Amino acid sequence: MADISVKLGALELPSPVMAASGTFGFGLEYRDVLDYNKLGAIVTKGVSLKPREGNPMPRIVETPCGMLNSIGLQNPGVESFVGDLLPQVKGLGVPIIVNVFGETVEEYVRVAEMIQSTGAVAGVELNVSCPNVKCGGIHFGANPEMLHEVTKAVREVTDLHLMVKLSPEAAVIEAVSNAAEQAGADSLSAINTIRGMSINIETRKPRIATTTGGLSGPALKPLAVRMVWEASRSVSIPVVGIGGISTAMDAIEFIIAGASAVQVGTANYTNPRACEEIADGIAVYLEERDIPKLSDIVGSVEVYEDYTLK
Ligand SMILES: Cc1cc2nc3c(=O)[nH]c(=O)nc-3n(C[C@H](O)[C@H](O)[C@H](O)COP(=O)(O)O)c2cc1C
Repeated sequence: MADISVKLGALELPSPVMAASGTFGFGLEYRDVLDYNKLGAIVTKGVSLKPREGNPMPRIVETPCGMLNSIGLQNPGVESFVGDLLPQVKGLGVPIIVNVFGETVEEYVRVAEMIQSTGAVAGVELNVSCPNVKCGGIHFGANPEMLHEVTKAVREVTDLHLMVKLSPEAAVIEAVSNAAEQAGADSLSAINTIRGMSINIETRKPRIATTTGGLSGPALKPLAVRMVWEASRSVSIPVVGIGGISTAMDAIEFIIAGASAVQVGTANYTNPRACEEIADGIAVYLEERDIPKLSDIVGSVEVYEDYTLK
């Protein structure tokens, strides 16, 4: 079998395929259907300092080639996560990356400190890109100065792998990527959802109670591939590709664009074994082409230099 293990800085993962935040609960729900040995890591649902009820229903709607969601970061809060959920999740034998959310820099720091103190987690993914909350989230991720501030503050309290999740709504992807790297991020993940809207033309009501929601699924993929390509060219830390990946070929496309690993989100809803099938498919792709290891193709896209927009 081809070697599909990956290194993200000092973090070694057995597989390049991680379950994306918010689409895999806290990792317990898929135990009966999925071979967890095929997972590189489980990225948990966003965890905040205080419990959050989330947004009113309806907060999910299917759209062409994707879906909109506006969950609003429903979660039991970091104390309950650490006390009740983490002891169960760590028993799964899969590296755990905790997606961390705050409304202020101080909240991000306090959650990261509590995660650090557990000694049971491989990394933290900073959710600075959620479009479905009033405060925090995207407000940090869209602005390079704020992103630098929150990343640096979290870096100071944790030596866990620090992944910063980028928003497609940042005006200049290179600027936010550089800000995160300079503040001490170990990797970037790209991308979170982008705000979309869907209207019932009979009732004239939005199909999502909060009017807009985050678009995910295959509709997002070309945008995400472009952003991974741009981000990976502007930093020297690894980039993790996310957005509409549902097959091994989708994952390979991200890797050729510049991703060192991938996360799979919405595809888990239509195929609960998606992560496993994607990991197997990546190994087959490498074997069939006599490529010894995955890192040989990371960022290997051959752009038409003469024609690429300067
Ligand atoms: C229902 C739902 C909940 C999500 N919750 C979170 C979250 O808590 N934190 C986060 O950083 N991203 C969250 N995301 C974004 C995903 O992790 C991922 O970045 C996005 O869906 C794009 O990937 P996909 O097209 O493979 O789903 C959520 C996505 C969905 C669909």
